[in-house]
Amino acid sequence: MKKITILDIQRYKDEGRKISMLTAYDFQISRILDGCGIDILLVGDSVGNVVMGLENTLPVTMADMLHHTQAVVRGRKLALVVADMPFLSYQVSIEQARTNAGLLLKEGGAEAVKIEGGENVEDIIRALTSIDIPVMGHIGLTPQSVHRMGGYKVQGKEEHQRQKLMADAAAVERAGAFAIVLEGVPASLAREITSHLTIPTIGIGAGVDCDGQVLVINDVLGLSGKFRPKFVKQYVQLEDIIRKAVTDYADEVKAGAFP
Ligand code: KIV
Repeated sequence: MKKITILDIQRYKDEGRKISMLTAYDFQISRILDGCGIDILLVGDSVGNVVMGLENTLPVTMADMLHHTQAVVRGRKLALVVADMPFLSYQVSIEQARTNAGLLLKEGGAEAVKIEGGENVEDIIRALTSIDIPVMGHIGLTPQSVHRMGGYKVQGKEEHQRQKLMADAAAVERAGAFAIVLEGVPASLAREITSHLTIPTIGIGAGVDCDGQVLVINDVLGLSGKFRPKFVKQYVQLEDIIRKAVTDYADEVKAGAFP
């Protein structure tokens, strides 16, 4: 088996082969997902909500992202590792964006970074791709914009929003991104964007016609408590399995049956 690069990701679209992407935040999960043949491991800034128990992704820092990216990189052999750029690590200036993206590659070991936004970050994406830092775009429901959006709401339902998201997608491609996440947009819009772009689209809550799909690993494994967005498919309920194992262990220790 061969290491997956951004060139393979483009080839998969060109060949009509769907792209699989999952989030990963630590060494062991990275090792397991990589062994299952997942194409892309995303060290999402969702680490804030999912792992750190924060209310949203805004407080996540570069130090958090570097720490988790390093762990994921140590666990994977083949998958492409993409690291999210956290809120305010790229919006303040091009210099900061370059420095922070560079750190995610240089110290984190990621092979690409992901940035939220469309036309508003076109210059930033271009500044990174022009110094050979591969960028994945992310438009639609962008969690770092939670306050502007007034919550986590599907984007692009109105015609003017559809036009805006089409323009955003085009800007991300024009700036040199190698792929783009479409989050929380109507399936019909995701289909239209996917057919207009030459780079692959990776959907989450965006229907079946994207070139690939991404989910948060804890949602897939049933490790997100009561939180379950409508579009998520939970493939296993690990929380119950863990609860049973830990209760058995605690009972056996109390009873003197273990060790
Ligand atoms: O941070 C994240 O997990 C993400 C995915 C949901 C696309 O950005």
